Amino acid sequence: MTKFRKIGVLTSGGDAPGMNAALRAVTRSAIERGVGVMGIYRGYRGLIENDIRPLGYRDMSGILHEGGTILYSDRCQEFRTLEGQKRAAEICRANDIDGVVVIGGDGTFRGGVDLTAQGIPTIGIPATIDNDIASTDFTIGFDTAVNTSIEMVDRLRDTCESLARSNVVEVMGRDAGDIALHVGIAVGAIGIAIKEIPFDEEALLKKIINAKNSGKRNYIIIVSEGLGNYSEHLAEIIPEKTGVDTRFARLAHVVRGGRPTARDRMLATRMGDKAVECLLNGESNVVMCERNGEIIPMDITYALKLDRMYKKKLKEGELNGYSLRDIEEMRAICAEKTARLRELYDMAERMSK
Ligand code: F6P
Repeated sequence: MTKFRKIGVLTSGGDAPGMNAALRAVTRSAIERGVGVMGIYRGYRGLIENDIRPLGYRDMSGILHEGGTILYSDRCQEFRTLEGQKRAAEICRANDIDGVVVIGGDGTFRGGVDLTAQGIPTIGIPATIDNDIASTDFTIGFDTAVNTSIEMVDRLRDTCESLARSNVVEVMGRDAGDIALHVGIAVGAIGIAIKEIPFDEEALLKKIINAKNSGKRNYIIIVSEGLGNYSEHLAEIIPEKTGVDTRFARLAHVVRGGRPTARDRMLATRMGDKAVECLLNGESNVVMCERNGEIIPMDITYALKLDRMYKKKLKEGELNGYSLRDIEEMRAICAEKTARLRELYDMAERMSK
């Protein structure tokens, strides 16, 4: 087995609260195991450009609770080329980096697969507010984004209550409705619109009218950004069809910053520590996943296929090479995830009449 001299660590793609906590865990876990750590700044771009500096145990002081990423982030097109990937591997070798931990979303993991293919063992840690990685129950940053959104919407609710208004609130999440669904439930929204489940607009309008007739004064509707401009459309038709004065808010990047919650700090620390343990034990091309409370490694390529299956993006032949058992396991995970989403959505409906 390789005796690791140093490992590299980078953050890539959209930042997420808890990335710093994960970086700290990776760095300290490696140093405690006698391995040096090199911080790769600005994601894969910094790797290609050799923007790399050593990280010490004390360099990690005071970052656990900070949002953003002290390593900075980037979305790098050049790394998508074979030439870029070869250059990245050369830079790793020149810096005595024997393995890399990449912290980010699915784009970051695709980069990890490419780096492993160039002979640099790589491990992924899922960090994105979107919670849109099917292999893990939760991604780092999701809980914070949900809690920040709740705080914002609670404020909107106060002013809606005073003036008997509705507020349509669009939240981030890319194509995934997880943030919208969790926020919607936690704020007691009268309606939640996400891409994964067909939205019954007529039913929402009726609900608002009935609620108004029974004395309700605030009407919060949470819409996932994956539905495009649907939130603006809703904000237009609600006053026309129900007579309820309506405002519109897009929370956008404001929920991507800020201090990570306890849950995200825990998840980041557990995943960071486990990632180093796996890497030093000779595992590579795996991603850390939280499944039923346990942190487990899953093959990245398998995890990416599973993700594509969940998002219904699989193309003909993409599962060639996988056993029937693997495919059945992927299907079971997707079915479980879909059922959980549906269950939450139906529960939200029961709570919002
Ligand atoms: O993936 C995180 C995320 O914040 C998504 O929720 C959102 O769709 C996207 O990134 C925004 O990207 P950008 O940072 O390029 O505006």
